[in-house]
Amino acid sequence: MWSKSVDRSGPGPLMATWVLFAVVASVFASNEFKTRPSITADENGTLHVNTTGVVLINGVDVVNTLAQVAQQLQDLRQRVMLPIFDGALSISAGSDSPNSIYAADLDGDGDMDIIGSSNNDNTIAWYRNDGAGEFSKRVLSASVDRARAVFAADLDDDGDMDVVAASGGDDEIVWYRNNGTGGFSSSLTITTSADNPNSVFAADLDGDGDLDILSVSLNDDTLAWYRNDGSGQFSSRRLISTNTDYPHDVFAADLDGDGDMDVLSASYEDDKVAWYRNDGSGAFSSEIIITTAADAAVSVYAIDLDGDGDMDVLSASEFDNKIAWYRNDGTGRFSTQIIISTQAEGARAVYAVDLDGDGDPDVLSASRYDNKIAWYRNEGAGVFSTQNIITTSATGTRAVHAADLDGDGDLDVMSANEAGNTITWYRSTGLSIPHD
Ligand SMILES: *[C@@H]1O[C@H](CO)[C@@H](O)[C@H](O)[C@H]1NC(C)=O
Ligand SMILES: *[C@@H]1O[C@H](CO)[C@@H](O)[C@H](O)[C@H]1NC(C)=O
Ligand SMILES: *[C@@H]1O[C@H](CO)[C@@H](O)[C@H](O)[C@H]1NC(C)=O
Repeated sequence: MWSKSVDRSGPGPLMATWVLFAVVASVFASNEFKTRPSITADENGTLHVNTTGVVLINGVDVVNTLAQVAQQLQDLRQRVMLPIFDGALSISAGSDSPNSIYAADLDGDGDMDIIGSSNNDNTIAWYRNDGAGEFSKRVLSASVDRARAVFAADLDDDGDMDVVAASGGDDEIVWYRNNGTGGFSSSLTITTSADNPNSVFAADLDGDGDLDILSVSLNDDTLAWYRNDGSGQFSSRRLISTNTDYPHDVFAADLDGDGDMDVLSASYEDDKVAWYRNDGSGAFSSEIIITTAADAAVSVYAIDLDGDGDMDVLSASEFDNKIAWYRNDGTGRFSTQIIISTQAEGARAVYAVDLDGDGDPDVLSASRYDNKIAWYRNEGAGVFSTQNIITTSATGTRAVHAADLDGDGDLDVMSANEAGNTITWYRSTGLSIPHD
């Protein structure tokens, strides 16, 4: 605009300067108008105070103060509002000594079904969810000898969840192929030589994109894996360790942050939680002990509890009634035991999931002497609340798990209660202020 004005005959340089000045002044003025604070009253007598600056009333910065109060209210809500759980709702009342449960959508209808094993009736069954939390039983097998453990994973890479099961009497680990709508094949053998297996897990251990199977077996003190060829054909067993005494539980997670799945074990007789470093190809280091202070270690779980981006480890141990965790420094070096609770009498299982929806995982426990399902709120950074009891009627409980069973968007809790012969769930009715 300036150069045009200069080149043009007619209005001289002086006039052009005035034009420029007017433009700059008006731009400046309009900006100033936008940011100028105003107090106006509308037709309804409402007073509008507009400013991008500070509003002081009797010297108090009201905008800032309001923002702080809102934040404090949010924090307070996180502290006092707890998920409230209904009493026990039935999944199965006809299982003889149920001991393991897992939730997955087995029939592809968008809700979470439940798989369970029960020891004394030698049954692997699943319970079809109608979407509202009403379950109907479908038996996969009633002829496994002493059903012990179940897990669900897509083993043949066809997009649906297959079922893996272990049975202690016949030393078998088998899987059942899902046809996509919850129709299952008869059992397909993974191994018949795991001596009294107690837990199974599925994870890609050799980095080839399919899910391999892990097992621990009590009587041969063995932690082993079985390589999946991708179609659900499994190799013979590959030993990871025979150095644990009565290993109860197995879990897989990337503990050293190198991108592959490492393995965890919890063993009963030597009170040990240990891990085994994967080199990426499914070759494992010898055991790296996390603790030997978990008296009768029965359950192990890994998740980021303190929000620092690495996988921490949780344990449940039966004889010291303990739920504890071990802080990972990111490289697989773990802190000494940090006790969450010793109020879980005969602790049998630990699980972690964000129950209160505040973005960090909370911890669940099942304990069989006090028939208790309880949870511990993660108050951030791995600081846990005292025990919140969900029920003390889970008779001889051995397993706890969580999933949204009624499709209302929050997580419900379920348990397998061995002595009570029940599989039950506890509906989360949403966040409320607790009352006694
Ligand atoms: C004043 O009140 C009337 C009736 O409630 C409403 O329709 C109108 O939008 C209000 N005016 C302003 C500026 O808020
Ligand atoms: C004050 O701010 C509100 C919301 O940004 C806006 O709608 C209103 O027009 C503003 N009033 C004045 C007088 O600037
Ligand atoms: C899966 O099996 C069930 C039970 O046998 C059957 O009703 C269903 O039609 C099958 N679904 C498919 C997709 O083959």
